Amino acid sequence: MLRFARFVVAPLLLIAIALGLLGLTSRPASPPPVLTALGDQPLVIAHRGGKGLWPENTLFAFERALELGVDMLEMDLHLSADGEPVVIHDTTLERTTNGEGPVAAHNLAELQALDAGYRWSADGGQSYPYRNQGTRIPSFTEVLQRFPRAPKLVELKVADDALAERVCEQLKRSGQTDRVVVGSFHESALRRFREQCPDVATSAGASSVRLLVALNWIGLGKLLSPTYQALQIPEQHGDLRIATPGLIATARERGLHVQLWTINEQPAMHRLLDMGAQALITDYPDRALQLLGRSTRISALSDE
Ligand code: G3P
Ligand code: CA
Repeated sequence: MLRFARFVVAPLLLIAIALGLLGLTSRPASPPPVLTALGDQPLVIAHRGGKGLWPENTLFAFERALELGVDMLEMDLHLSADGEPVVIHDTTLERTTNGEGPVAAHNLAELQALDAGYRWSADGGQSYPYRNQGTRIPSFTEVLQRFPRAPKLVELKVADDALAERVCEQLKRSGQTDRVVVGSFHESALRRFREQCPDVATSAGASSVRLLVALNWIGLGKLLSPTYQALQIPEQHGDLRIATPGLIATARERGLHVQLWTINEQPAMHRLLDMGAQALITDYPDRALQLLGRSTRISALSDE
């Protein structure tokens, strides 16, 4: 009996006390100014500036998306060979530009000499309406200068401390630390960014998402004290359904702003908003705005 108490009851008691203490000390995240300023309405976020409508991650896309009436611009950052954060999704140039090779092997001037509208087509490659129109790969600085007021989701695509440091510096210098949410799949990039820019809002990295999913699954989501303010998740990852009503409710209860990617069809948009999603990151912001009954200030179709 004494052995049973020592080996089973005592450890269980200790675990219960530890969980109780964790529960008592856990704190939800506080909403950041960039999101509170946008109010409680579901947000429409132009994924890569709205890549279904125009060439992704370009000044042209960001300008048109804002004219359309989106709430936020989403963009991806790499580092050029001369250390400049540049706005492009892939590690290499072939899919979106007329260039070749790794982004990181070219300096800013070389990258900006390329045509970032070269590969965009709305009809499966029958026509390329943005070729030779002067569409370039922008530097992050150019985006900050051109759209100082626009709320932005900024994704650090590489786990390079220099990228996190440069982005933090540029946000501070432009006075836009309260206009962005910075995210990354790379926890090390986020760690470095948070060290440099502790007051800037960030989203959960890949391990943090996994931890939240696991805690929620075993019913201990309330123990989480997030060090980030937003949760960007896909609806599904392989066979695993990530976005469930339970997970979204737990995340919101922990103070997180729940943003779903990449949601392009209106039935899915509807379903996820009903489930509690607070933002749709979409290649087709026109569809989301229409679904929400918000007028679009320009026609997306006229630009295709
Ligand atoms: O917000 C996360 C989402 O942007 C990730 O997708 O397009 O960068 O591969 P992507
Ligand atoms: Ca992205």
